[in-house]
Amino acid sequence: MSKIDKNAPVGVFDSGVGGLTVAREIMRQIPEERIVYFGDTARLPYGSKSKDTVVRYSRQIIRFLRTRDVKAIVIACNTASSYALETVAGETDIPVIGVIEAGAKTAVQATRNGRIGVIGTEGTIGSGIYTEVMRRMRPDIEVFGKACPLFVPLVEEGLLHDSVTDEIASRYLSVLKGKYIDTLVLGCTHYPLLRSTLGRLMGEGVTLVNPAYETALELKALLRERGISRDPEAGRNLPEAPDGSLDEERYQFYVSDLAEKFTDFARSILPNEVKETRKIDIENY
Ligand code: DGL
Repeated sequence: MSKIDKNAPVGVFDSGVGGLTVAREIMRQIPEERIVYFGDTARLPYGSKSKDTVVRYSRQIIRFLRTRDVKAIVIACNTASSYALETVAGETDIPVIGVIEAGAKTAVQATRNGRIGVIGTEGTIGSGIYTEVMRRMRPDIEVFGKACPLFVPLVEEGLLHDSVTDEIASRYLSVLKGKYIDTLVLGCTHYPLLRSTLGRLMGEGVTLVNPAYETALELKALLRERGISRDPEAGRNLPEAPDGSLDEERYQFYVSDLAEKFTDFARSILPNEVKETRKIDIENY
């Protein structure tokens, strides 16, 4: 892309619905920006896949998003950010950001005792990336990672407030409680949806960090810095469809499978109505 169009959308992708927690923050923080969201619902989960596979998937998704003329890309998935950000960012001429730096920075600023817990998929925790990034920011920090593989299916099943979720969460978190952490990074797209359960189990003294929030702020700053922010007035002037839903062009949703299921989930967590989700064959990219 030689000259970046300010009115072009931002591409946001994830392995599935979880990245909508990041899209939701972007919608809240920079409502004027347009978004093309892609959820790789056919190939989820990424959390238990190898680095090579996640890099290959991420490259395909970026090729697809480029066909939608996006001006920047946010890798909303923690696993894809851990495994693929560095590689794919070096291969494209538009800005690409992930969620790890933002989450790590917030946690390092929040901790008082220098002991931080990180929960995420097996891929994210196994990569050690949160520890690496936080230690680069503050070398004396102690980081304790814990993979919580059952959280994603629990969220996908809608068991956000359920005794089964409570039981599993308390088992996972007991390891971290024994480490006297005062800050916990929710290092997976799905975990902010379990925030109340996690907060209750960790207790008031532990600050929960949602990287989605900081990522939206980082995107806002990045677009401004590059001079490619959309005029806030442009967002306000967007027409609403007769049924009250937002202009379809403002937020577009694509998946690789199960479009209707995605739409139902998206409608349950996004502040604005989701009109439709289109299914594409990502293997073609
Ligand atoms: N989006 C993934 C992440 O944030 C969680 C779901 C998956 O394993 O694909 O790591």
